[in-house]
Amino acid sequence: MDFLYHYSKEAFHEGVEEMEQNQLLNRVTIGDWNLRNRIVMAPMTRSFADNETGVVGPDVVEYYRRRAADGIGLIITEGINPSPRAKGTFGVPGLYTQNQIAGWKTVTHAVHQEGGTIVAQLWHVGRLTHQELTGGSPPQAPSSLRAKGLVHRLRKPYEMPEEMSAAAIQTVIEEHVQAARNAMVAGFDGVEIHGAHGYLIDQFNSEATNLRQDRYGGNLKQRLTFMKELIAAVVQEIGAEKTIVRFSEIKDDMPNYRWEDPEETIKTFVQTFREIGLQILHPSTNHFTEILTNGMTLHELVRKHWKGIIIGVGNLEVELAAHSIGKGTIDLAAFGRPLLANPDFVQKVTHGMALEPYDAQRHLSILV
Ligand SMILES: Cc1cc2nc3c(=O)[nH]c(=O)nc-3n(C[C@H](O)[C@H](O)[C@H](O)COP(=O)(O)O)c2cc1C
Repeated sequence: MDFLYHYSKEAFHEGVEEMEQNQLLNRVTIGDWNLRNRIVMAPMTRSFADNETGVVGPDVVEYYRRRAADGIGLIITEGINPSPRAKGTFGVPGLYTQNQIAGWKTVTHAVHQEGGTIVAQLWHVGRLTHQELTGGSPPQAPSSLRAKGLVHRLRKPYEMPEEMSAAAIQTVIEEHVQAARNAMVAGFDGVEIHGAHGYLIDQFNSEATNLRQDRYGGNLKQRLTFMKELIAAVVQEIGAEKTIVRFSEIKDDMPNYRWEDPEETIKTFVQTFREIGLQILHPSTNHFTEILTNGMTLHELVRKHWKGIIIGVGNLEVELAAHSIGKGTIDLAAFGRPLLANPDFVQKVTHGMALEPYDAQRHLSILV
């Protein structure tokens, strides 16, 4: 009896694991995309574009082609600048010149040849930069508040940003719309708007960086106006089924920043996304399992208020990702660093092989 009991219990658990694994590995239709599985490549800046022109070359093509050939369901690119003033470090690619579009065309073509799906992450760093990176213009931000710390790789203090006028706000929105249009011309399957991690959109969203007294400032709902108008304009251009938004509590320049009332904050964000007809959210945290409030994680809180698609991320392990998809907390699971260490991630997961641990020294310096 004992033996039988243990046998059947184990068999049951194996069955569950297999079923959950399949949830991660099965085909799925999300928005406009027919994905081979629910595994997403998280957006990761690699700094391998030509620093002067922001054009990507054959090494970047091969890097993304390899992930598509491995079988990743959805690739979200590294952050791509919609304008020269959006740039916050060296070697970041752009999507505002004809040569940049031509470079990305070779990437999307290679990914599609391998049966993959790829969206472009649009990234404006706002105040987190320096005129040596932006072609001589001062950083742009909602308010003239200088960030603490040093610019990534340039290692110089962040500069005092220029408070954006209403006209500058309209220009930046139009630049994102144009970049989304360019993404379509370049063959991308959609775009992700980077509204997270303390960059321009998040600077408008946060009370720590937005002191405006016009209609782009005030309470949280009012501070989200810039993001709302920008995303609505992009959605109008390419469609909600092709548009993802990333948002977060975490800020790259403020490690101790916390939302005062996480649940109210999430409710206000989600309400705003609903009003503009968004379908796909990518809430970002570095620790998927971290409790934000009332025993709930970031993704659980978002799920409580949002019935649409949710992408999970943040030091995710494969089993937990599959389990969270099975439970319905998330619909897709994004992996960042494990995909740098394992260009054959999907093959390893499919065949139950051990993953190579991530090592920044080894895996960031070269584009493999
Ligand atoms: C080298 C590196 C570059 C990153 N660049 C970006 C970026 O351009 N845009 C972005 O939204 N997140 C960026 N991230 C954050 C990742 O998308 C992801 O959220 C984070 O690494 C947590 O996932 P992981 O634990 O699976 O690596 C970057 C992370 C790494 C490690």
